[in-house]
Amino acid sequence: MLTVGETQEKIMKELASEAQRRRAIAWAVSLTTDTKLAPTPYELELLEHYAIGELTLDEVLYRLDSRVQHLLYRSKATGHFSPEQLTELLEQARANNARCQLTGLLCYASTGDFVQVLEGSALEVHALYKRIQQDSRHQHVQLLRDQATAERWFPDWQMAFVQADAPEFFWLVGYLEAHSNNLPLPQLPITEPHLRTLLAQFSNL
Ligand SMILES: Cc1cc2nc3c(=O)[nH]c(=O)nc-3n(C[C@H](O)[C@H](O)[C@H](O)COP(=O)(O)O)c2cc1C
Repeated sequence: MLTVGETQEKIMKELASEAQRRRAIAWAVSLTTDTKLAPTPYELELLEHYAIGELTLDEVLYRLDSRVQHLLYRSKATGHFSPEQLTELLEQARANNARCQLTGLLCYASTGDFVQVLEGSALEVHALYKRIQQDSRHQHVQLLRDQATAERWFPDWQMAFVQADAPEFFWLVGYLEAHSNNLPLPQLPITEPHLRTLLAQFSNL
């Protein structure tokens, strides 16, 4: 025996065939083309699940509300960071990130290069990225990716930290940049667990 809610959902599903759902989606997408409201790849992915009947509209909306923004950038320290300065930066970052429900990974190479992943609500991630761009402790801040997905990659870390050696760092950045530009990906000699998580998740985007 179906509940009232289940019956309603069944009727709605039957009323809207896949073809009808696809027409509605194509119409909505065409209305937003070249506007700020144009769907992102993640939104298009969810709409495809809706089109084929795998998700209801409510489920799509729920996933949109709980999506996680992932922002990746690289930068170069303006001067040498001592271990004390790195600890200070991390403590400040972790305290602030805990307040804003942000998580992520900061990777610092012996060459003074950074790669950082910020993850959380789009609002908090973009607000922090603006502040980070203006931070005089580093320069040449270059965005590598800014995309929403369903889950956090570093849910247990207000800011995980990895200190990489130069070859490891440049393999990592080479990989991230090759992937962003759809170039063939180099083989990866990376063993550090956080960096492997980053690479595995990034490859799935
Ligand atoms: C490489 C790098 C990474 C940083 N990561 C974070 C971070 O994850 N969270 C954070 O709150 N601040 C981070 N900061 C510090 C921010 O740039 C900024 O100083 C801090 O958010 C305080 O900003 P406010 O003084 O405007 O409040 C980072 C700075 C640098 C140079």
